[in-house]
Amino acid sequence: MPLTSTRDLVARATVDGRSIAAFNVITLEHAEAVVDGAAAAGRPAILQISENAVRYHQDRVTPLARAVAELARGARTGVALHLDHVTDMTLLRQAADAGFSSAMYDAGALPFAENVEATTAAARWAHGEGLWLEAELGYVGGKPDAPASAHAEGVRTDPEEAVDYVRRTGVDALAVAVGSSHAMTERSASLDHALIGRLRQAVPVPLVLHGSSGVPDEELRRAVRAGMTKINIGTALNVAFTEAVRGSLAGAPAVTDPRKYLAPAREAVAAAVRDLLLALDV
Ligand code: G3H
Ligand code: ZN
Repeated sequence: MPLTSTRDLVARATVDGRSIAAFNVITLEHAEAVVDGAAAAGRPAILQISENAVRYHQDRVTPLARAVAELARGARTGVALHLDHVTDMTLLRQAADAGFSSAMYDAGALPFAENVEATTAAARWAHGEGLWLEAELGYVGGKPDAPASAHAEGVRTDPEEAVDYVRRTGVDALAVAVGSSHAMTERSASLDHALIGRLRQAVPVPLVLHGSSGVPDEELRRAVRAGMTKINIGTALNVAFTEAVRGSLAGAPAVTDPRKYLAPAREAVAAAVRDLLLALDV
């Protein structure tokens, strides 16, 4: 099955009580690796490009997005495209044209009232374009350039506030703070499973776990069983990628062709994607 939509993949996972993993893409090799890893596991996947990745690509979203969409069209499992952690409405407005079926609008670092106001406007616009919109309440720490105050340990999403937030903003999915943190290179996070259960009971839209690279496999499976649906993974792929590049270049000063170290990096990421997808089975 080729390019599909985030809405469909999340809906199917929700009905089946499974998860759908969303992997962050920085380079074309990341995207090739995710498509290969998903095929090896026989599982669907979401390819997501973050606003930070767009900034890395000199503020241009369409070149990478269109290449990734083309890869998704040729994939052996269902693959959707998602624009991740968008704070800039100008970028959000490019999402549909660039080929994304969904986006995450990130006002999670703002106070509640301002988050509601900004996200309501973003959701109204996104729905007018036929886009599925995710938003964040409770703030998952560890994002680059985030305000220092928002990194406070122990920040959690309050279920009652979450219900109110979803009702007022009209978002399609909610990223919640339940103990994970972005950019962890060790898998040592422990999640608040009781809170996940309470959020699942209360909140009428699918729940999203950010910062999943730092969460051990069994914790991830418990989170899925408790009702977490979209599982966002980025750093784990970069760890695999960079370790492989280091391994290829160590003691090889004569290597100049990037393919010599990018091909092993792509294989390492594909293996990481396959293993993570299989580990998420509940
Ligand atoms: O939105 C992206 C994810 O939250 C990725 O987080 O890089 O810590 O796995 P991670
Ligand atoms: Zn995230």
